[in-house]
Amino acid sequence: MSIAMESQANPHVLLFPAPAQGHINPMLKLAELLSLAAVPVTFLTTEHSHRQLTLHSDVLLRFSRFPTFQFQTIADGLPDSHPRTFTQHLPEMLSSFKSIVKPLFRDMLASSHFTPNLTCLILDGFFSFLVDINDDFVKVPIFCFRSLSACSSWSVLSIPYLIQHGQLPIKGEEDMDRIIDKIPGMENLLRCRDLPGFCRAADPNNDPVLQFVVNQSIRSTKFDALILNSFEDLEGPILSKFRTLYSTIYPIGPLHALLKAKLANEETESSNSMREVDQSCLPWLDNQPPGSVIYVSFGSITVMGDHELMEFWHGLIDSGRNFLWVVRPDLVRGKNGDVEIPAELEEGTRQRGYMVGWAPQEKVLSHEAVGGFLTHSGWNSSLESIVAGKPMICWSNAFDQQVNSRFVSNVWKLGLDMKDLCDRETVAKMVNELMVYRKEEFMRSAAEMANLARRSVSPGGSSHLNLDRLIQDIRISRQ
Ligand code: UDX
Repeated sequence: MSIAMESQANPHVLLFPAPAQGHINPMLKLAELLSLAAVPVTFLTTEHSHRQLTLHSDVLLRFSRFPTFQFQTIADGLPDSHPRTFTQHLPEMLSSFKSIVKPLFRDMLASSHFTPNLTCLILDGFFSFLVDINDDFVKVPIFCFRSLSACSSWSVLSIPYLIQHGQLPIKGEEDMDRIIDKIPGMENLLRCRDLPGFCRAADPNNDPVLQFVVNQSIRSTKFDALILNSFEDLEGPILSKFRTLYSTIYPIGPLHALLKAKLANEETESSNSMREVDQSCLPWLDNQPPGSVIYVSFGSITVMGDHELMEFWHGLIDSGRNFLWVVRPDLVRGKNGDVEIPAELEEGTRQRGYMVGWAPQEKVLSHEAVGGFLTHSGWNSSLESIVAGKPMICWSNAFDQQVNSRFVSNVWKLGLDMKDLCDRETVAKMVNELMVYRKEEFMRSAAEMANLARRSVSPGGSSHLNLDRLIQDIRISRQ
């Protein structure tokens, strides 16, 4: 189970993300930032995640430059062959986490070898069930790390109130455009279709996924502090709401940009990929005119049906724009990587398209050939697009994504929200609206937000200062 038990004799901070790319990625960035500040870190992941990470990224080499950093792993109780996709297998994964991971984690925290030298625990908000706040073996401060946006996290906390006031359940498709006016700080902004994906449950009081996510969120408000991958200029009003729940919050995002700013004089480029990255799209992008390519990617866990795949495909070809599309082997339900180019789309795909199984996304988004991003609105992808100054078309799918896409279109004005539509006409129309007809308007607002993001991670910027404060507080917590 342990990879480097001996160095736990030193005081250290323990970071434990949920086992998914979108959670591990930002928490590893935080681990790297803490290590750069000489804070000793133990990074705990499931054995399966650790295997994927070390197979497809340079993390072992990269972190080997920090003598006080160590990886440690824990079993997740699932068979090796299990697909471990949150979107499709959440209930069984949660059950395994509760019955296997929780007792193992408790044993680890309680072990005399581990605990005396632990200075604080930084735990994924999604995993708050792993500790009970009154457990006396957790003798150190617990910081909750939320890898989601503040706006989506805040809307999740409002769900019990919405149920109590009869705003949930949603009563079918005809109810989807009803305005939700009961979320403080988001009055009259969200429609039912913009609420987190699991709010579509027919019986919210008895839906296991909804109840789990809401309970985790509420439980994590009892932790000592909150770390958010966000920044004041983006989510200031919602961050203020969180200050009413936590005595201390640290908005330190966008974490990938903060890390880049700190590494400015080093050659190290961090990749935390858990899949094999196909770099061949970079030379392809080099040969495309500036701003001509729409980058299409739906993150690491979104799945779609055959019909949706075809509608996107036709829409992209019909738009007449160049496209770079990440078609993961597990993107299309039941296909297992077996996606063939239909005869009628062959010519258009060859002329204007490039498809990969997994892209070096941060590099792709910062490439000058890319003029827009058709995304599922996962929080990491949204932040990466914001930093790169690229406007978005949002096809949100689950969890927090529906809230993020509403904020992208209606609050930050950084793009268009496709929401529950998925037909070729809409895809083609929105691609052209983003890349041609309203290009200047969107590029301007994206550039402004990118500047604010960069400012927040520069010396003197809010996220930069918040990280300094976090490091200082971690150091004090061990005295
Ligand atoms: C999950 C949830 O689905 C998302 O809603 C939540 O906000 C975070 O956790 P995921 O769906 O994987 O995450 O999306 P996202 O948050 O965007 O993270 C995907 C990460 O994978 C990004 O950092 C992105 O750069 C990376 N990626 C994606 C690649 O490196 N290459 C790719 O081809 C696609």
